[in-house]
Amino acid sequence: MRQELEDLRAAALDQIQQSADAAQLERARVHFLGRKARLTAILRQLVTLSPQERPVIGLLANQVKQAIEASITAQRASLESIPSDDVLATDQIDITLPGRRPTLGRLHPLTQIMREICQVFVEMGFAVIEGPDVEWDYYNFEALNIPEDHPARDMWDTFWIDPASISVDKPMLLRTHTSPMQIRIMEQTKPPIRVVVPGTCYRYEAVDASHESQFHQIEGLAVDEGVTFADLKGTLYTFVQRLFGKDRKIRFRCDYFPFVEPGVDMSIDCFRCKGAGCRLCKESGWLEILGAGMVHPNVLTRVGYDPARYSGFAFGLGPARVAMLKYGIDDIRFFHGNDLRFLQQFP
Ligand code: DAH
Repeated sequence: MRQELEDLRAAALDQIQQSADAAQLERARVHFLGRKARLTAILRQLVTLSPQERPVIGLLANQVKQAIEASITAQRASLESIPSDDVLATDQIDITLPGRRPTLGRLHPLTQIMREICQVFVEMGFAVIEGPDVEWDYYNFEALNIPEDHPARDMWDTFWIDPASISVDKPMLLRTHTSPMQIRIMEQTKPPIRVVVPGTCYRYEAVDASHESQFHQIEGLAVDEGVTFADLKGTLYTFVQRLFGKDRKIRFRCDYFPFVEPGVDMSIDCFRCKGAGCRLCKESGWLEILGAGMVHPNVLTRVGYDPARYSGFAFGLGPARVAMLKYGIDDIRFFHGNDLRFLQQFP
């Protein structure tokens, strides 16, 4: 009987390990441990054995039973860790397929155009400086030759900040243009100055296809001895040709900005119709892209520069307008509409 138990154990372990799936394993279990199994019969017959044999055979029979049970448990676990044939068939990985490209972020078109514009000026020797969005009335208006009751203040619909709410005693606002940085820079440095200032501006304005209440500007300022209107023209002409191509022409017309004299607006000839007149240029042949002028003597005096010795030019442009012209975008609201179909066109 002892030999029979040993044989049973060997046969059972062998068959269990040969089981290739759950059904085979179950059959092996029923065969070796089920009600009609030989081992079950032996265990039942223990009472018929002699008192000498009973403990010895009983012990062995129980060990065999436990070994078989342990083997079944182990085999079941290992079968479960192997995926079924179905899963293997449908889950095949085709290692010849090209990989999936991870989605990459990209720079916003406005960021791109602002960097491009600044870079053109950097190559002409300008430094890039930024300034605060929340500004004193003094820098945004007063020091720019726009005193409190000056009608020109109407040119900029302003978001005012309640001084009490931030415990200041002088009026503050969200800057309506980047021009206040002209004053801040001149207050802190002596000529020669050549800077461009990219930044966000705010105006209390109704939003439409060409206006947003929050937008960007890039300001330019050059001050030194002997700076003339010819320098302004040359610098801006170079800028236009770099950004819009060698064939572009420019046109200046008188315009009024209190902090420059003379003040101008500058247009480029329409690159769509080459000046013949089209929808983009509203049939005029020209596209207005910036305001500029020679820094007003009052402004120079205010920051302690001697206007008899120093002169300068300044300009301010809207990068969104430049991008709209350059890429033929007809609504400024696309820029902050967060529509990927729009944004993904600017790689
Ligand atoms: N700050 C003006 C505006 O927002 C634009 C401008 C015009 C800036 C003439 C200048 C300038 O520096 O010289 O409308």
